[in-house]
Amino acid sequence: MQLNIYKDHHTLSLEAAEAILATVKNNPTAVLCLATGDTPAVAYELLVKKAMDEQVDFSHCIFIALDEWVGILPENEGSCHYFLESRLFKPLNISASQVHLFDGMATDLAGECKKMDEAIAAKGGIDLMLVGVGLNGHVGFNEPGVSADLYAHVINLDDITRLIGQKYFQQNTVLKQGITLGLKHVLESKKLVMMASGLKKAEVMKKALEEEINILMPAGIIRMHSQGVVMMDETAATYLTVKPA
Ligand code: GLP
Repeated sequence: MQLNIYKDHHTLSLEAAEAILATVKNNPTAVLCLATGDTPAVAYELLVKKAMDEQVDFSHCIFIALDEWVGILPENEGSCHYFLESRLFKPLNISASQVHLFDGMATDLAGECKKMDEAIAAKGGIDLMLVGVGLNGHVGFNEPGVSADLYAHVINLDDITRLIGQKYFQQNTVLKQGITLGLKHVLESKKLVMMASGLKKAEVMKKALEEEINILMPAGIIRMHSQGVVMMDETAATYLTVKPA
């Protein structure tokens, strides 16, 4: 695992945008799984701008969803669908045929998971997975205690996730379950970038990176990935004991 610490959120975002761009420049048919959330939001803005400036062609890439809230409409501004559509797919001119998202409204959620697993396998796996970290250490919606042997699955959200998740919604929203790629997908991705930003993530990142790897801290999985890169800003790295020179 590689650990890169940047001086601030903007520099972190710039480098994360560069990492995505580099993947697509090297492999125009790359399969990308890009997390939603506050952490990568500026990176995606910069990515869109740079992709336009440098005329990087995303028209042959495939986009795979990391996760979605169950029971939330795609047009709800708090949905992962809406986030990706408005911040990446629309500005980058991505066509529907390039995109595989979870339908959080599906009546057959197990079927949704199966479809996603099959889509990923059919595309030859995920080339670049970029994830954030929840305050409880979750990755996607892989909550503390989840098995590392799962592919896509539906999961009951823990209390912290339900509470923190409210920040994405304009009004108080009932959040009970998530549908998510599994830690098996995370481990099998060809490259894994984990982003963390801000003091609020400092404690969880210390646990993930320095305590014994254990299922109660899913973000620790990055240390088991041979092509894992942690990208964080200095404030998120506040409590790390060992920092790169
Ligand atoms: C959310 C999402 C994750 C995201 C994480 C961190 O609940 N399910 O995919 O990476 O929590 O979110 P944020 O970047 O807003 O802190």
